[in-house]
Amino acid sequence: MVERVEVPVSTPYPVVVGDGIDLAEVVSRELSPGVAAILADSNVGPLHAPDVERALEGAGWRVADVVEIPAGEGSKNLSVYGEAVRRLARSGLPRDGALFALGGGVVGDLGGFVAGTYMRGIDFVALPTSLLAMVDSSVGGKVGVDLPEGKNLVGTFVRPRLVFADLGRLSTLPGAEVSHGLAEVVKMGLLAGGRFYEDLDLVSGAKSGDVDALRTLVLHSVRFKAGVVAEDELESGRRAILNYGHTIGHGLEAAAGYGLAHGEAISAGMVAAARLSARRFGADLTDRHENLLRAAGLPTKVSVGNVEKVLAAMARDKKRRVGEHRFVLLKDVGRPVWGVPVGEEEVREMIEAVNE
Ligand SMILES: NC(=O)c1ccc[n+]([C@@H]2O[C@H](COP(=O)([O-])OP(=O)(O)OC[C@H]3O[C@@H](n4cnc5c(N)ncnc54)[C@H](O)[C@@H]3O)[C@@H](O)[C@H]2O)c1
Ligand SMILES: [Zn+2]
Repeated sequence: MVERVEVPVSTPYPVVVGDGIDLAEVVSRELSPGVAAILADSNVGPLHAPDVERALEGAGWRVADVVEIPAGEGSKNLSVYGEAVRRLARSGLPRDGALFALGGGVVGDLGGFVAGTYMRGIDFVALPTSLLAMVDSSVGGKVGVDLPEGKNLVGTFVRPRLVFADLGRLSTLPGAEVSHGLAEVVKMGLLAGGRFYEDLDLVSGAKSGDVDALRTLVLHSVRFKAGVVAEDELESGRRAILNYGHTIGHGLEAAAGYGLAHGEAISAGMVAAARLSARRFGADLTDRHENLLRAAGLPTKVSVGNVEKVLAAMARDKKRRVGEHRFVLLKDVGRPVWGVPVGEEEVREMIEAVNE
């Protein structure tokens, strides 16, 4: 079964979700064949690039190059960006060529930036292979790289021609990475409410690799994120709700250094936000948060040592306005509010509550 979700921005693009779907057929429906390059990382490339190359060739494409970068966030930088665009130039990828980014959020963010800037922009196709990339990073058009000064500091918006999420690719994804993607799924289900929230019962099934559970949750997430992005593509308002759990989460992540994954940090960040929400608005969703996050294989507390380090990291966060902390909180399931000012002392208490 193949499902198609349209992201209704000014230049709309489809997100196609299925299990073992025929890439050649889907690509042929969206783009006429030409010259392609594939970008992948050192984990995903050997596992999945040959298959993609074969499918593209079967659909009449010529694959000029398969560019492989070292796996991990460390590749999302200007020097790997520079090497990648130079590889495209050397392989002779023309102005009407297309870049296929096969991988997780790192390859997607870097690949989108490469495609959006090489020759002032060539066609970009996202082939997300991590759960996080399927539910989050490949929808919404944000692309870019990190600087030594901070994450995601260079980038722009690039709309792909097609996002193609083949759930079959998740069979090789390490379990911890499934949990990291589920952190964003739980986040969006709590923000969305309704049927999506009820279907969060499927989180434990998805964690153990059940494809139907994964399909349902990926589709809910893509539809929800597409809706939010359509309302506020450039994040001047409501798109900020997607930062639920991320304000403290980013602080925890930065304070812990490399020891703490983003998904784990925002898991604890959401628990902190739930506590704060209960205090402000009465509805206590803390237990529900903890149960869902545990089912996803995520921690509800983390260990980052000194709380002051977290506050210092939060003070450096680019999304913070000077002199105050602004939070996304939940009045109830499906009822997010954003831009809620929170004082330093209360933030400190919330961090302490999730730091062990
Ligand atoms: N653009 C956005 O809107 C947006 C949103 C959220 C996150 N992001 C970015 O996404 C990145 C994180 O993405 P991620 O969690 O996918 O990280 P990632 O791309 O590093 O992938 C995680 C790990 O899983 C491996 N992997 C991916 N798919 C696999 C598969 N099918 N089989 C085996 N291994 C596989 C990768 O090689 C990597 O080791 C961050 O850089 C973050 O800033 C962007
Ligand atoms: Zn996140």
